[in-house]
Amino acid sequence: MFANQLIYWYLKNKRDLPWRKTKDPYLVWLSEIMLQQTRVAQGLPYFLRFTTNFETVFDLAKAEQDVVLKLWQGLGYYSRARNLHFTAKYIADELQGIFPTTYKELLTLKGVGDYTASAIASICFEEPVAVVDGNVYRVLARYFGIKTPINSSKGIKEFKELAQTLLDTSQPGTYNQAIMDFGAIQCKPQNPLCDSCPLSASCIALEKKLIKELPVKEKKIKVKKRYFNYLVVVTDANKTLIQQRVDKGIWQGLYQFPLIETSEPITEVPLIEHQIVETLFTKQTSVSLYNQKDIVHKLSHQHLYTKFWIVKMNQINEINQINKNDFEITSWKAINEFAVSVLIANFLNDFFNKAP
Ligand code: ADE
Repeated sequence: MFANQLIYWYLKNKRDLPWRKTKDPYLVWLSEIMLQQTRVAQGLPYFLRFTTNFETVFDLAKAEQDVVLKLWQGLGYYSRARNLHFTAKYIADELQGIFPTTYKELLTLKGVGDYTASAIASICFEEPVAVVDGNVYRVLARYFGIKTPINSSKGIKEFKELAQTLLDTSQPGTYNQAIMDFGAIQCKPQNPLCDSCPLSASCIALEKKLIKELPVKEKKIKVKKRYFNYLVVVTDANKTLIQQRVDKGIWQGLYQFPLIETSEPITEVPLIEHQIVETLFTKQTSVSLYNQKDIVHKLSHQHLYTKFWIVKMNQINEINQINKNDFEITSWKAINEFAVSVLIANFLNDFFNKAP
């Protein structure tokens, strides 16, 4: 029913586009690559220019990369053009100019992902595989009232499976293009044309006034990278130094080894020359890195790339007097009395287990 209504709508409203007059996989591939992240109106002149300059996949394969990139200029996402050229050469040189004919084989081409493979396989070879692009997400999320974020792994799976069950397997190419055109023209992102929509009677989003809310996109939080260098003091008398985290932010109030945070990963020489080390220690005997690979401690908004540096010295009174107020001298034995972060607790576990 859903598919029939979409196809009926499509036959009356479809856009007259040059790549719809052919089943040549070269032309369909070209158009589908160009239309990713690009509106049809913007991609169309590029399609015409490319097909005029490169009539066949052999012509594109023969072209200089610079010429291909020049013709692509303004479309953006230039890796698409480089992959396009790479794949043209592969098809011309290795496959005698003949495109693979199945979804599975098409997927192996560079620059061809789930969407493009489904589009080419269904449009050119009538393989019953559903496409899911931004238009499809929107139409399905609204019509079925689905709130799963479309950019979550759960959402990607859910929408692909739903799209597949709705597909008209007797005309997959037509159905796929119908739902995409329907999304672009009727079920638009902003101000969709619900008044004239043939699916409005059974659209959940319309009924529940959720048109503006759907589809849901998860805000991807940017994870900040921080570089932590802990100075683990070891004295002959089994003492060490700790400090309390007083600043707002993570682990406020917990104890830690003296910390140097840097904006980039740091090696031994710049660490020793770091102002904090210079003022903290007057005669540190030796500094060595405890963990060769950074320990990455993952918090929801930040990843802490952590190095523990073992600072060996004879006695704690080598530490500069000025700093004594900020730090506490403690015995290694007593350290378990202090509240520490999991990052420090894990280190302590490892360190004590390795200690002779
Ligand atoms: N967007 C990208 N490819 C499309 C196609 N074949 N039909 C409709 N919209 C599209």
